[in-house]
Amino acid sequence: MSKDFSYDDLKDEEKKEFLKVSQVNKAYGTGDSRQEVLRGMDFSVAKGEFCVLLGPSGSGKSTLLNIIGGIDSADDGYISIGGDKLRDMDEKALTNYRRKHLGYVFQLYNLIPNLNVKENIEVGAYLSDNSLDTDELLHTLGLYEHRYKLPNQLSGGQQQRTSIGRAIVKNPDILLCDEPTGALDYNTSKEILKLIEEVNEKYGNTIIMVTHNEAIQQMADHVIKLRDGKVRKNIYNENKVKAQDLDW
Ligand SMILES: Nc1ncnc2c1ncn2[C@@H]1O[C@H](COP(=O)(O)OP(=O)(O)OP(=O)(O)O)[C@@H](O)[C@H]1O
Ligand SMILES: [Mg+2]
Repeated sequence: MSKDFSYDDLKDEEKKEFLKVSQVNKAYGTGDSRQEVLRGMDFSVAKGEFCVLLGPSGSGKSTLLNIIGGIDSADDGYISIGGDKLRDMDEKALTNYRRKHLGYVFQLYNLIPNLNVKENIEVGAYLSDNSLDTDELLHTLGLYEHRYKLPNQLSGGQQQRTSIGRAIVKNPDILLCDEPTGALDYNTSKEILKLIEEVNEKYGNTIIMVTHNEAIQQMADHVIKLRDGKVRKNIYNENKVKAQDLDW
């Protein structure tokens, strides 16, 4: 596989199954403490789709995101992106995939404390050759006036917006968000959801967002409900609700 693969010229079939999770199993521990976390997990996500993963605590959501993100690996089955199986990538290709094609937003923002907002975002652009204009992105994020502040001078919502900026500045094909609003209050959560919606519409990134919040599923194109390591429901929304109009 070439080092600088691109997903810009996929065939229609490949776009439909842009991200494919095929019969993935994952267990932790051995003997009595062995726990089967993912058990035949199977679904696919189309390119540009906004997909929400819903499931109770412990159902394997973060485990699955980590495997899709190439920071953990499946025991069986495979994940493929644009037809390329992660398990067949060598270390170099996997690093390239993580650096250039993937953005990760964590529940706890993981910002670098001694860098300001602008610098934290620029960290995400490092090593990318497709990065967005930082100033324009700061405006989209509503952070332009705050760009010289350090993380400890920001509210939770502003910190999360900065971490979203860091993940999307390289304009990744896939944006993985693990409970991006988990630590935020109602109004701030809505602000973040509006921002993720805008990013999806503006840049066309494929988004996989994990949440506990049932109301959030209405804003997605595609909703996957997990329980006990399996897909229980796989739903496509005919009528999406704007983040602005969600209520919970
Ligand atoms: N590195 C690990 N070693 C051992 N067990 C693990 C590891 N990572 C996750 N687990 C276990 O796997 C199960 C699924 O964890 P995971 O973090 O994927 O759940 P989750 O759906 O993200 O839950 P939450 O909504 O609480 O974040 C849990 O029971 C957890 O204890
Ligand atoms: Mg989790």
